[in-house]
Amino acid sequence: MALKDDREGGPPAATDPSGTNVSRRAFLRSVGVTGVAAGVLGTSETEAQTPGTARKLGPGPVPITLRVNGQTHTLNLEPRVTLLDAMRDRLDVTGLKRVCDRGSCGACTAIVDGRTVYSCSMLAIEAAGKDVRTVEGLVDGTVLHPVQQALCDHDGTMCGFCTPGFVMAAVALLERQPNPTAEQARAALDGNICRCGTYPQVLEAVLNTKGVRRG
Ligand code: FES
Ligand code: FES
Repeated sequence: MALKDDREGGPPAATDPSGTNVSRRAFLRSVGVTGVAAGVLGTSETEAQTPGTARKLGPGPVPITLRVNGQTHTLNLEPRVTLLDAMRDRLDVTGLKRVCDRGSCGACTAIVDGRTVYSCSMLAIEAAGKDVRTVEGLVDGTVLHPVQQALCDHDGTMCGFCTPGFVMAAVALLERQPNPTAEQARAALDGNICRCGTYPQVLEAVLNTKGVRRG
């Protein structure tokens, strides 16, 4: 069982199997991960892909591989550890920001297999074997990604704390829809909050970003 983020469907609902609301922390403390992921070491590909072969993992650490910005890392993690905690505390990937820590602000947005997720609300073990991307992987040498450059050009950042999350949400949008309408862009950025109020500038930047390759 896992607490999943669904950016397109809004913040996740944390419910126990009986349908009762529970806090996210209580949920993570109690979670036992059943199932196998291809990135959990010791799991064969056949086992990972065969329905009905679920087995319980944890509560102690299990070895998993995380592929982050093209680099593969092997970690021993308890199944309850979130992707955000694994990235920030174990891999020093700090572009993912912890703000609300409950799937409602978007500051921790990453792209996993082409889809935006709130990394605070996804277990690291769920991302095992998948392609995880963060803002750290966008810069090409000293050249900013087109979305980053557009945000600079359109004054789309103030304190900057929300910026990496907005950047990843915009990248995911533009990789599947290079010329979005304002409505499409608003919908894609809907899960991100900026306390400094840069929304108009961010929207303008996204609508004027050119040169993002299809993902
Ligand atoms: S810190 Fe993850 S959504 Fe706010
Ligand atoms: S620029 Fe400060 S929170 Fe968005």
